[in-house]
Amino acid sequence: MRQHSLESAVRAAGIDVPPVFSEETASTSTDARELAEAGAPEWTVVATNHQTGGRGRLGRSWVSVPGKLLQFSVVLRPALPPQRISLLSYLAATEVIEASSATCGVEVRAKWPNDVVASERKLAGILPEALIEEGKVGFVILGIGINLSMGEEDFPGEIRGLATSLAMEGAPTIDDAAILQEILRGLADAYKPWSEAFPDAVLRAYALHCVTLGRRVKARTTAGDLVEGTAERLGANGELVLVDGASELLVAFGEVEHLE
Ligand code: BTN
Repeated sequence: MRQHSLESAVRAAGIDVPPVFSEETASTSTDARELAEAGAPEWTVVATNHQTGGRGRLGRSWVSVPGKLLQFSVVLRPALPPQRISLLSYLAATEVIEASSATCGVEVRAKWPNDVVASERKLAGILPEALIEEGKVGFVILGIGINLSMGEEDFPGEIRGLATSLAMEGAPTIDDAAILQEILRGLADAYKPWSEAFPDAVLRAYALHCVTLGRRVKARTTAGDLVEGTAERLGANGELVLVDGASELLVAFGEVEHLE
């Protein structure tokens, strides 16, 4: 990603807030958080060509090789109750999937909650982070990382075989600015947190892409128990509803293992 392509992608997506580019940074989400704390407006997009301390979900790190990924974070200030924030990461997953398919022709799906996968390997990840003050959402930083031209050898041993990239999935050409523009346009079009219809619209679109639904999975419940069941549907805030015999369990956070 280059600064001028970032600026034109943001403008073409209909966003008039100037984006922030750095050749290298520790984490665009950390940078975006600092900017948001200093008052940066909604739709400030922070992107880089390389992260030296990229962060993933559940305290994991996120691997970067200069110029081989699309890595950016967006500042949002949604009028949503804190328990509904994860709707934004389901929305982001949908937009990453649709943009990757539209621009590269690669078949991409969602693994609950917000992994983006191709050929059952992880292609992209989404990290939602929020500032909650006095029970209200101050801001949300939506961090998105997509493996564009990473090769098998670029992934460290522990994730080799589990990760993939658009190039590894056979994308004939990969235009990072075009993918970014599609994602931002999709996000901006669908972002209506003030609307009563927003949660349903986001979850309906996400469910169409989610390969976890209908599968037997192993997961940890909100109460901390390890459970197995069939992922039957999504709850009102995107929780996974597991059915095992006559019992129904709600998994709100964490990750699942697909069993078959
Ligand atoms: C995950 O699947 O664990 C989430 C990965 C999120 C990575 C992106 S890259 C841009 C932004 N900055 C970060 O430090 N992390 C997110």
